[in-house]
Amino acid sequence: MESKSNEQNVIKLCQPDMERGTNLMCALANRKSIRTFKNKPLELQDLSDLLWAAKGVNRPESGGMTSFNSLGKKEVDVYACTPNGACLYCAEEHSLIPVSESNLIPALAGGQDYVMNAPLVLLLVATILYSTVSPEPMKSTLAPLDTGIVSQNIALFCAANTLDTVARGTMDVDTLKRELKLKDSHCLLLNHPVGYQE
Ligand SMILES: Cc1cc2nc3c(=O)[nH]c(=O)nc-3n(C[C@H](O)[C@H](O)[C@H](O)COP(=O)(O)O)c2cc1C
Repeated sequence: MESKSNEQNVIKLCQPDMERGTNLMCALANRKSIRTFKNKPLELQDLSDLLWAAKGVNRPESGGMTSFNSLGKKEVDVYACTPNGACLYCAEEHSLIPVSESNLIPALAGGQDYVMNAPLVLLLVATILYSTVSPEPMKSTLAPLDTGIVSQNIALFCAANTLDTVARGTMDVDTLKRELKLKDSHCLLLNHPVGYQE
């Protein structure tokens, strides 16, 4: 993951609260797409724990993460987008790096108006790896697979902690790529509006 901002602006996140949330079976029982959101920004602890659940480091000695990732390359980046701008989640530092001051939520909504009410949208960006070790058709499936795994972590965290979310493929990819200065090798497949229940 490339650092795109100077260190002064980095937002240090809270340590994950390991005691929170319902158990896994309750989270699975509660998981569903919810498309209504309270108009309230997420508390820093909630945002911190959500990002850690998505792809945080859970084994500091090896850098291992909460989500499976193909070839151990950790190729899914998570952008936290609010009306005030966008930040890139740095799992290694458990911090947020500001990368844009633009409100990207209209581009993330891509015409689905309910997204405009979300205080936060997580954008999952996979880097397509042209690995010599993985055979076709594996190469082209790694990015969608890794994106889906991070998405499921987000969905289960939300279900366990009474946060509303939905996995979405709809978005204005060209605008997002331009605003976030992404490359052709970056693959935008899913985003998650997240908010408190109304
Ligand atoms: C790959 C993928 C893309 C999706 N894209 C959208 C979308 O663009 N907009 C939306 O409102 N829901 C989207 N969904 C959510 C599905 O509509 C939803 O999961 C499905 O209707 C089943 O409902 P449930 O999640 O409540 O079980 C998407 C889900 C997946 C897995």
